Amino acid sequence: MNHGFEPTLFAGRRVVVTGAGRGIGAAVARAFLATGAEVVAHAGRSEDYVARDLTPGLDADALARLTLLTADLGAPGSGQALAEAILDKGERVDVLVNNAGTMGGRIPAATVTDAEYDRILDLDIRSVVSLTTALLPALKGAGHGAIVNTSSISARIGGSPGSSLYSSAKAFLSTWTRALARELAPDGIRVNAVSPGTIMTDFHRRYSSEEKLKATAEAIPMKRLGTAEDCAPAYLFLASERLSGYLTGQVIEVNGGQLMV
Ligand SMILES: NC(=O)c1ccc[n+]([C@@H]2O[C@H](COP(=O)([O-])OP(=O)(O)OC[C@H]3O[C@@H](n4cnc5c(N)ncnc54)[C@H](OP(=O)(O)O)[C@@H]3O)[C@@H](O)[C@H]2O)c1
Repeated sequence: MNHGFEPTLFAGRRVVVTGAGRGIGAAVARAFLATGAEVVAHAGRSEDYVARDLTPGLDADALARLTLLTADLGAPGSGQALAEAILDKGERVDVLVNNAGTMGGRIPAATVTDAEYDRILDLDIRSVVSLTTALLPALKGAGHGAIVNTSSISARIGGSPGSSLYSSAKAFLSTWTRALARELAPDGIRVNAVSPGTIMTDFHRRYSSEEKLKATAEAIPMKRLGTAEDCAPAYLFLASERLSGYLTGQVIEVNGGQLMV
C-alpha cells in the first residue's frame, strides 16, 4: 500500500527496516516497496511471519527490490554483525528504520534481575545503537540520509505494570533521537522517531489481555486501537527529504489521540 504517496517517492533509494517480518515493521517495509525503494528487511530472528505479514500480494517488481536478512539482535555484537551483513549486500544506505524491539515479557519491578536488564536493554537499546553506528558512514555517504527510530507512547507515560525496563529503553531512544539529530545535522543526516500508541500486532496479542485492550480502545479519543498500517505513513514522511527536509529531532506520536503532548 503506498498510502497516497507517489509510487516513485523512494525510487533509487536503499532503505533498511529492522523487525520487518511482521507487525509495524512489515507495514513500513511494504509501504517503502510500494513507493519504489530497494528494501533490506531484517525480518527478525526468523522468516516465520514473512509470508503472513510482509510479502502477501507483492508483485515481481517489488519482490525483486526486497532483500531479507535474519538476526537475533538480543546479544552484544549483533547490531554490528547485522550492519556487516547489510553492507555485504550493497554499500548504499539512504534510510535506516530502527524498529526491531519488544517488551520481553511483563517483569514486576520487584523481580528485575541483572540478566533481565541485559536481555531487554541489549535488544531495545544496545543493538539499535551499534547497528546505527556501523551504518553512519553509509548514511553520510548517501547525502540526505535519514534515520527513523521506533519509540513508544510508554516512553512518555511509563507504560503499564511490568514494562519498566522496556518503557525506559524507549525513553532512551527518544532522547537519543534528539541527540543524534543535533550531532548529525552537519552530515546531512536527519534523525526522527515514530512513537506508536497501542497498535494491534503480535506485540499486544502476546502481552495484553483482551479485556485490557478493550478498555484501552474505549479510552482512546478515536475509540479504536491502531493498526500497523496506521503507523507506516509517519515513517515514510520522516524518511523523505522532499516531504520533511527541515524536520529533525522530532518524535511523532501516532496514537489516535491516546496521548496529546
Ligand atoms: N504494538 C504496539 O502497540 C507498539 C507500541 C509502541 C511501540 N511499539 C514498538 O514497535 C516496534 C514493532 O513492534 P510490533 O508491534 O510490530 O511488534 P511485533 O509484531 O512483535 O514485531 C516486533 C519485531 O521485532 C523483532 N524482534 C523482537 N525481538 C527480536 C530479537 N531478539 N532479535 C531480532 N528481532 C527481534 C521481531 O522479530 P521476531 O519475529 O523474531 O520476534 C519482529 O520482527 C517495536 O520496537 C515495539 O517496541 C509497538
